[in-house]
Amino acid sequence: MMAINRNKISELMAREEKVFVKAHPKSKALFKRAKSSLLAGVPMNWMVRWAGPYPVFSKEGKGAYITDVDGNRYLDLCLGDTGSMFGHSPKAVVDAVNKQISKGITMMLPTEDSVWVGEEMSRRFGLPYWQIAMTATDANRFSIRLAREVTRRKLILVVNGCYHGTVDETLVNLQNGVTVPRSGNIGPPVDPAVTTRVIEFNDIDMLEKALAPGDVACALMEPAMTNRGIILPDPGYHDALRELTKKYGTLLIIDETHTICCGIGGYTREHKLKPDIITLGKPLASGVPVAAFGISQYVADKVMERILSDGTDESGLGGTLTGNALAVAAMRATLQKVITQQNFAKMLPLAKRFEKGIADTIKETGVPWHVVRLGVRIEYHNTPNPPRNGGEYEASKDSELEKLMHLMALNRGILLTPFHNMALISPYTTARDVDFHTRVFRESVEQLVG
Ligand SMILES: Cc1ncc(COP(=O)(O)O)c(C=O)c1O
Repeated sequence: MMAINRNKISELMAREEKVFVKAHPKSKALFKRAKSSLLAGVPMNWMVRWAGPYPVFSKEGKGAYITDVDGNRYLDLCLGDTGSMFGHSPKAVVDAVNKQISKGITMMLPTEDSVWVGEEMSRRFGLPYWQIAMTATDANRFSIRLAREVTRRKLILVVNGCYHGTVDETLVNLQNGVTVPRSGNIGPPVDPAVTTRVIEFNDIDMLEKALAPGDVACALMEPAMTNRGIILPDPGYHDALRELTKKYGTLLIIDETHTICCGIGGYTREHKLKPDIITLGKPLASGVPVAAFGISQYVADKVMERILSDGTDESGLGGTLTGNALAVAAMRATLQKVITQQNFAKMLPLAKRFEKGIADTIKETGVPWHVVRLGVRIEYHNTPNPPRNGGEYEASKDSELEKLMHLMALNRGILLTPFHNMALISPYTTARDVDFHTRVFRESVEQLVG
């Protein structure tokens, strides 16, 4: 195996930063101006975490491409970290939004579109009843509430390294067997050990120990981890998860926000999972803020009385703009014309080609890395073997190397997802785009080992 030359990382980083600064004078000026009115110079703090000394300000996103304010054009493999995974501004959604926007944006009344989306979500995901939310964070928050209501238990169970949005209970780590706040967690409301038990993914013994006291309301999990690289479940893990959650009276919430990359009904449909609740958001309306959660007949029966009670406007579920007419119109157009079998049939072979491009480069250059694909989501990581859980992933993460790979890609016209080496294939991505990435990836790796 070929070791990475560590001296090369800082040498290449200095060179690439100069290239970046030269190509982005307008972004630099905007960032300077923004610092006097926006906290950290960006509308949301994590936007400073992109590769490069300052963020690239975008001007336009269309299909699989983004153009920045300096006129640089990028093949976008980040795609709004899944929010735009089916392409920027798909025509069908733009048309639906334009049509609805002049007919009322938010009216506090249901529209016919909401009935259509409810029926379609049931058909795709196999759960009978759906509610709309604005973000996947909200869908998770509301689902946890329902689980607590149904079970009359307080604790929730998550896996180490999970990400389910800014849900307080989930911003936790497992440290020496104990639940602790995640290092970046700003102002945690209570000690998270009070609300949350954390286990490692793919560890069935740990799962049973965590559930056995019979005090866990719900297990909230992605069916495959996607926020610490891509970590696939071991064979049999989902069977055990379902069996044990049932055995100990814990509801199973499957978060499909990222794993919708597996197909039109997410991992759940592809692998015939039977959760009690499903949550998802991000690309559901092509990036217009919409999310949804679906529940089983059992959960519905248990919560219906409360849902219909007089106090339900202050139930902790939803908000004033939730389920608004514009959002639901965008969701309908997305389900009808964008998140389709036809589009997945186009995207999947390209995702396999993308994976092969990386795998071949790793093999031929001898770098001790690996690549994993989950549907149309692909990620490479700097260890020879895939980590089996969040703890193993964190222990092996090489942030310095990652930043350099991202900056080298950006300077050559490719945007990778910040925080990890993740790429998404959209219906607009072409074989040419995929091969372009393979060339850039190979060139970067060769410079690192050279
Ligand atoms: C699996 C998963 N669930 C939920 C969320 C939260 O999504 P949002 O930030 O849109 O609320 C994320 C965000 O990355 C996620 O990765």
